[in-house]
Amino acid sequence: MAWTPLKVLDWTARRFAEAGIEAARLEAQVLLAHALGCTRVQLYTGFDRPLEESELAGYRGLIKRRLAGESVAYLVGEQEFWSLSFVVDGSVLVPRRDTETVIEVVRDELGDRAASWRVVDACTGSGCIAVTLARELPAAQVWATELSPEAAAIAVRNAERNGVAARVDVRVGDLLEPVAAELPVDVLVANPPYIATDVIAGLPLDVRREPHLALDGGADGLDLLRRLAAAAPAALRPGGLVAFEHGFDQGPAVRALLDATGALTPAVTRPDLGGRPRVTHARRR
Ligand SMILES: C[S@@+](CC[C@H](N)C(=O)[O-])C[C@H]1O[C@@H](n2cnc3c(N)ncnc32)[C@H](O)[C@@H]1O
Repeated sequence: MAWTPLKVLDWTARRFAEAGIEAARLEAQVLLAHALGCTRVQLYTGFDRPLEESELAGYRGLIKRRLAGESVAYLVGEQEFWSLSFVVDGSVLVPRRDTETVIEVVRDELGDRAASWRVVDACTGSGCIAVTLARELPAAQVWATELSPEAAAIAVRNAERNGVAARVDVRVGDLLEPVAAELPVDVLVANPPYIATDVIAGLPLDVRREPHLALDGGADGLDLLRRLAAAAPAALRPGGLVAFEHGFDQGPAVRALLDATGALTPAVTRPDLGGRPRVTHARRR
């Protein structure tokens, strides 16, 4: 039997589903398109042509690695976020759809998108939040901080790739320390590590393969959020916006942390696409 793209996709989708991969067919399509150097749509224009052994060999390698727990984004080296394309490698967290809620909060809260907003994205990783905000706010200056130099280098590449390198300044260091001279700003956002240390061992394999530094939020997951919340009032101009992503069960704790500063409007939590409360925001009084 000759292996055609259609047969290969059917086989892989079944195998992935058996292995508990949720988006089995989509992942199979992305990997086959990557192995063949074409788009997902192009797969179907030649769906019944026999594949060469050399084409199959590259694809088989990708399937093996996916079944061994590597995520598709790492295998193909990129991930879509807010309809933009981001380079990823093992030094950064793979951008998640849930994190687009941070972008929605900022977009909805800032009246005039064309103003010269000054924005800080702490814990930037791939730079997905910083780069997307620079694209959404065309006159904004964005500073992004990141503790890992390797991750910061990926964020710089992503700012270049998406045409906003002139307005996204990536700095290596701890939380707000690298941007101390730029404060106060109009917007402070962060998707910091927020998973409790003990919980990490029980996460799916592909998540555990992401950098520990991107996941571990300390004993209760709130170490970084606690520090960021305490720093928020001094980091913001009056009326400035703070918005943090957090775990679905951390909304009350993050609201309490922001409210405890006494310098912000009562914190509000917004649900992500799946309806789980994931982004908490407030304004500097
Ligand atoms: C959960 S990931 C989020 C990455 C990206 N913002 C996103 O939404 O996909 C958290 C990032 O924070 C970085 N990080 C951890 N501790 C940090 C610290 N103290 N200061 C700055 N960045 C830190 C990690 O290296 C990781 O890239």
